[in-house]
Amino acid sequence: MDDGGRWFADLERETVMASAALICDTEPWKDLTEHVNAIEKTHLRDLMNDVDRCQSMMVEIDGILLDYSRQRVRLDTMEKLLKLAEAARLRQKIDRMYNGDHINSTENRSVLHIALRAPRDKVICSDGKNVVPDVWYVLDKIKEFSERVRSGSWVGATGKALKDVVAIGIGGSFLGPLFVHTTLQTDPEAADCARGRQLRFLANVDPVDVARNISGLNPETTLVVVVSKTFTTAETMLNARTMREWISSALGIQAVAKHMVAVSTNLMLVEKFGIDPANTFAFWDWVGGRYSVCSAVGVLPLSLQYGFPIIEKFLNGASNIDNHFYSASFERNLPVLLGLLSVWNVTFLGYPARAILPYSQALEKFAPHIQQVSMESNGKGVSIDGIPLPFEAGEIDFGEPGTNGQHSFYQLIHQGRVVPCDFIGSIKSQQPIYLKGEVVSNHDELMSNFFAQPDALAYGKSPEQLLQDNVPDRLVTHKTFSGNRPSLSLLLPSLDAYNTGKLLAIYEHRIAVEGFIWGINSFDQWGVELGKVLASQVRKQLHLSRTKREPVQGFNFSTTTLLTRYLE
Ligand code: F6P
Repeated sequence: MDDGGRWFADLERETVMASAALICDTEPWKDLTEHVNAIEKTHLRDLMNDVDRCQSMMVEIDGILLDYSRQRVRLDTMEKLLKLAEAARLRQKIDRMYNGDHINSTENRSVLHIALRAPRDKVICSDGKNVVPDVWYVLDKIKEFSERVRSGSWVGATGKALKDVVAIGIGGSFLGPLFVHTTLQTDPEAADCARGRQLRFLANVDPVDVARNISGLNPETTLVVVVSKTFTTAETMLNARTMREWISSALGIQAVAKHMVAVSTNLMLVEKFGIDPANTFAFWDWVGGRYSVCSAVGVLPLSLQYGFPIIEKFLNGASNIDNHFYSASFERNLPVLLGLLSVWNVTFLGYPARAILPYSQALEKFAPHIQQVSMESNGKGVSIDGIPLPFEAGEIDFGEPGTNGQHSFYQLIHQGRVVPCDFIGSIKSQQPIYLKGEVVSNHDELMSNFFAQPDALAYGKSPEQLLQDNVPDRLVTHKTFSGNRPSLSLLLPSLDAYNTGKLLAIYEHRIAVEGFIWGINSFDQWGVELGKVLASQVRKQLHLSRTKREPVQGFNFSTTTLLTRYLE
């Protein structure tokens, strides 16, 4: 390009940037920034005394109760946040998503995970084509295949039924299915359907993960599902080759056809790998990896374990929330309210993290899944138009089930940094225990903590209270809890497949709402690329050094030293 051309391109870019408004330039944003001062003067102890306020901050949808009265918001804060949603054109952005517009603009793709759980007769289009029949074609194929495997009509190379499944995949091709599996395995109805079967997940390229996952398995009775959207992910492909070797060295290469199937959008590479296209379950580029648990990525391994009818209930739960998100007014819309509160906490109040605290061991893998969905989606520094953001977006998600977390990081949450918390509980236990002579069941004991912790965070304990309790002077500051720490509570009726689907969709849409408000692209993930490129340079070096004894070169001093030590 000559100088004139470059000048013109610069000018064009400046014009685009000037015309693409950032949300922080809008009046509602400025109003909220000023409003922070008013909120800084409030304490949750006082806000919680206003019963009308608290009542309007309870929203119940199809048995799921959200209580956000312990957020550092007043009623006028919520009005201002709703105005921000309007300024961000949230309604239009949701419509564009449901219409199949290419809202993932950097990859020029629709974002249609809602189509993965839509009823058969729904019409959802991407590029002018209704995608729902394609979705149901694959779901029907999974139903049929999983029934054949589970009933023993599909057998392995030696004629034995395949009762164990190893699903290979990483990131979005792993964390969502693992979360759902972990939740369902103690649900009585699902567990009953999984009797005698095992589902394992092989994600890490660390050989230890291979060793753990094949331990105790017999290749004759094992089915391997290779899950990769691109079918190029280095870790997954190496693990797939390792498992192919495990099967073929025991049963011969022809056994691969009976013992390995795939889930991918890249059917060509699957075939090249040696998996029969007839045993491949497709999905589409309008499904983001981290939003793919409702595609064959999750539905195939989970149906093999629990049977398709259970997983259909999970899909129905997610679909129920898709309808709610699309049609409910923003004032009573769970994902919208949650998304707006997250933006308020992260960007306006300056709390960078969020703790996801399910009072349920079955939700043990929920936080790791949401961590990926949230941080890969919203960990961005530029607007969707490529303009650097002058404010903080994205949040640091972490979490552990209660009460375990209470004995780990809650100290910091109570007396150290302020971390807004999501408390998630279930009215019914999956596995209730009533000990003879105990009035309070084990689940009651667990839930006592679920109800107590939010108040401990909100109210704290003042020096005056401590002195009244005869706490010695020297310990008063140590034992003081400032309180005023925000949290919200989500109370589910139970943790069956249906409600698990709802929980997933609430969080998926919440994360989209946050991104829509911040004005970023929540559906690309360029940030993971650089590390992959550098790893491939190191891989080449290792190969050269090992095969041709070439010295390490082309790296900085630090990496050269480390690599040389590793090779020695
Ligand atoms: O970690 C980055 C990522 O691209 C995720 O978005 C994705 O879910 C994961 O890798 C796995 O990718 P694939 O399904 O293509 O193997």
